[in-house]
Amino acid sequence: MNESIAIPEILNKVASAGHEGLPLPENPALTGELELCRSWGYALRFECGRAFLLPDPDSVVPALIEQETPLLAWDKICVRGFLEVGSTNEIALELARAGAAGGTVVCAERQTAGRGRKGRSWSSNPGAGIYCTIVVRPRQEPDHWPLLAHAASVAVAEALREVVGECAVANPPVPDLKWPNDVFLSGKKTAGILIETAVTRGTSPCAVVGIGINVREGSVPAELRDIATCVDRESGSKAPRRRILCSCLHRFQLCYGLFEDGEHGELLERWKGLSSMWNGVPIWVEDGGPRRAVVTCGLTELGALRVRDENGKEDTLLAADVTIRRA
Ligand code: BTN
Repeated sequence: MNESIAIPEILNKVASAGHEGLPLPENPALTGELELCRSWGYALRFECGRAFLLPDPDSVVPALIEQETPLLAWDKICVRGFLEVGSTNEIALELARAGAAGGTVVCAERQTAGRGRKGRSWSSNPGAGIYCTIVVRPRQEPDHWPLLAHAASVAVAEALREVVGECAVANPPVPDLKWPNDVFLSGKKTAGILIETAVTRGTSPCAVVGIGINVREGSVPAELRDIATCVDRESGSKAPRRRILCSCLHRFQLCYGLFEDGEHGELLERWKGLSSMWNGVPIWVEDGGPRRAVVTCGLTELGALRVRDENGKEDTLLAADVTIRRA
């Protein structure tokens, strides 16, 4: 089990106190917690016996995420913030098994064991990206849950379009969705989604929706530079992480609402509208055996990818790795 370091509650209190500031606590343990937060980059200032958090749309502060995220799918969102965790998905699964409500969100500055699809790892350097996981308790039957990945990737793409559009130089890059659930900027992977499920005794079955977004340069490992990128590099600006995260949580609720209402066609139309590769695009498929050359030809009603080989034989991909085939 990986040790985790929670964001101290005192940071939420200072953030909620706004420009009034919070009287500096006399308890040395609490001042130590504030110093810890400062050492992780939170813009805390101590003046005239009070603690202030300087306004900074980049800072991932649970109380501010809760305040700034419009509510649609849930009565409230409850953000559990960490400076460091093994994996936000792991924490969210633990909380879900213990009965956490849908709309519980786990976010972290750093993951020491961030995980990706198919047992891969997800590099998660401190302050460099958005690492968050949402607990959901769908009414929809589990065989529809693959669509949660489509809901999350639409949310990430729309959030990036919104926030990058606000802060980028001319011609901001347009997010492009690559099946099954990657978000690309300028032809390179920028964000990924990992859905995991938890069976709980006594409560409804649930899933956790993990979202990783490369924001700062430090989020992309050197060995992946050819195939992965980050928001800052592609937008030519410093994109504020909390703005992206709140927009993402807002938009996820919209897509989750479509999912829960059974509006799956509408959800997939939104996904298709953000993807250049779901129809008529030559791709390589890797799903265990030798890689195969096929052409995409649509999505099924559960969001699986339809492909056709050179003999005209059609196939449905549920969970493969695909890459665009270039001439
Ligand atoms: C992929 O593209 O392979 C999926 C990557 C998902 C990464 C995110 S980061 C937050 C959450 N916690 C994890 O351990 N993984 C997901």
